[in-house]
Amino acid sequence: MKIIGVSASARKNKSTHFLLNECLNEFKRTSEQLGKSVEVELIDLSPLKINGCIACDKCKKGVLCSQEDDFQTLIPKLADPEVLGLIVSTPVYMGCMSSQAKAFLDRTVLFRRNGFMFKNKFGGVIAVGGSRNGGQELTIQAVHAAMMIHDMIIVGDGDHFGGAAWANHPDGYEGDGTGISTAKNLGKRMCEVACMMQI
Ligand SMILES: Cc1cc2nc3c(=O)[nH]c(=O)nc-3n(C[C@H](O)[C@H](O)[C@H](O)COP(=O)(O)O)c2cc1C
Repeated sequence: MKIIGVSASARKNKSTHFLLNECLNEFKRTSEQLGKSVEVELIDLSPLKINGCIACDKCKKGVLCSQEDDFQTLIPKLADPEVLGLIVSTPVYMGCMSSQAKAFLDRTVLFRRNGFMFKNKFGGVIAVGGSRNGGQELTIQAVHAAMMIHDMIIVGDGDHFGGAAWANHPDGYEGDGTGISTAKNLGKRMCEVACMMQI
């Protein structure tokens, strides 16, 4: 099985990426404990050019997209039936997900329009805000909404909604122990559920 993490920050190797890595590492650790072999891939959207959906409806004719941008490179990765789950990590921008996350999610409509290709895949979300309570939970739920529209199975961190972290923690985002725990717990929980459902 394979799990894909998507870092939807405008910035490379910052807090959004860091928290996703923590989550994916925990996923891998848990899978090893459970004796399962899992491939993990992190897709960093920051260097990619992904336009918003233009509603041309080309994807109603097949797993196709008319826009010749970097989303094309992601289509085969996301269409891989080996992929059991998707973890989206996004910064909080103006109380919700980044435009990078929204453009990415909107463009995934082509998988829905071609037989609900994400149906029954596991979905988890991490949101990182500049403030402790800057909209992380609302952001997580907004991404959950897109996942539900794909008929994915949403998994939380075993306590609340998913990973919720504070980038401007006085000790830096690497020092936000509470936030890091939520991201790790999400990875652990995603793996537990994925392994349980596979049996
Ligand atoms: C346009 C913009 C809007 C933002 N809005 C919010 C916000 O509403 N709430 C919040 O907590 N942080 C907000 N922030 C701060 C980012 O969420 C924070 O810096 C986050 O860590 C960025 O992720 P990164 O470290 O991967 O770049 C905003 C930042 C930007 C650039």
